[in-house]
Amino acid sequence: MVTYRPTPGVVTDALAELLERFAPLREGSLADYIPQLALADPDDFGIALVSMEGHCYQAGRADVPFTVQSVSKPFVYALALSRLGLEEVTRWVGTEPSGDVFNAISLEPRTGRPANAMINAGAIATTALVPGTTPEERFGHILDCLSRFAGRCLDVDEDVYASEARTGDRNRALAFLLSSAGTLPGDPSEAVDTYFRQCSVRVTAADLAVMTATLANSGVNPVTGETVVSEEVAVQVLAVMASCGMYDASGDWLLRVGLPAKSGVSGGLVAAGPARFGIAVFSPPLDVHGNSVRGVAALRDLSERFGLHLM
Ligand code: DON
Repeated sequence: MVTYRPTPGVVTDALAELLERFAPLREGSLADYIPQLALADPDDFGIALVSMEGHCYQAGRADVPFTVQSVSKPFVYALALSRLGLEEVTRWVGTEPSGDVFNAISLEPRTGRPANAMINAGAIATTALVPGTTPEERFGHILDCLSRFAGRCLDVDEDVYASEARTGDRNRALAFLLSSAGTLPGDPSEAVDTYFRQCSVRVTAADLAVMTATLANSGVNPVTGETVVSEEVAVQVLAVMASCGMYDASGDWLLRVGLPAKSGVSGGLVAAGPARFGIAVFSPPLDVHGNSVRGVAALRDLSERFGLHLM
């Protein structure tokens, strides 16, 4: 095992090797419950890593745009924590791994809260917590925050948004259930619509690597130098990613890869090496948990080879 150092040649070679090794992997399937996501190219495969010095390393199709989906969740959680603080956010959204699928009905027996902010129910509640007098203003804060994490102005893929808005009845049901339990602030229809927009923000693997490197760098974007969130908030978000970011595969992920991470149904997967790097993989075919097959395989390999496991 070699100790990880973000030396340009080593990183570039490692990313290129990962691409070569895992491109032939033909397992998993595209998410199709959001019809627009089923149009993705299963062979798209890109990896990007950003160091704490702001160096960006890439291999493959790291500049292909796709919708952020659930990878938005930790960053919007960071926004809610920044605006309201941990105690207030935790009144509405728990911090325990659910051990359940990402779209499960999640109401803690004693409090009625969703288990955590990384699953859909908790993410919808987190989105609803973002301050704003209108849905437009609330989404404006979310888009601005995601853009600061990425270091560039992001936008919405309107086709994916329309596709999810047409087919998102399960998320609507979750929002109304939370509302009936008194654990969703505001109007449930508005909350879920804002959540659909948030999931439809367009990013690349290179963007996601910068965003994750910002969390790893105590909330300071290593490329732009902007403090996006406090160190305290960055640590809180990384902790919840570590315990809950990979849904019902979170325990296995922490055991084998040992890094805070988050996945999304469009095939994005990010992982943070605190004070070291942010890495992102894009490859659309998913395993049964909704995690990118090539993403999981590549990051597991990288972690083992370079001794990245935090424990
Ligand atoms: O709410 C949904 O179902 C999607 N917009 C996002 C879910 C997601 O990315 C789960 N990740 N694997």
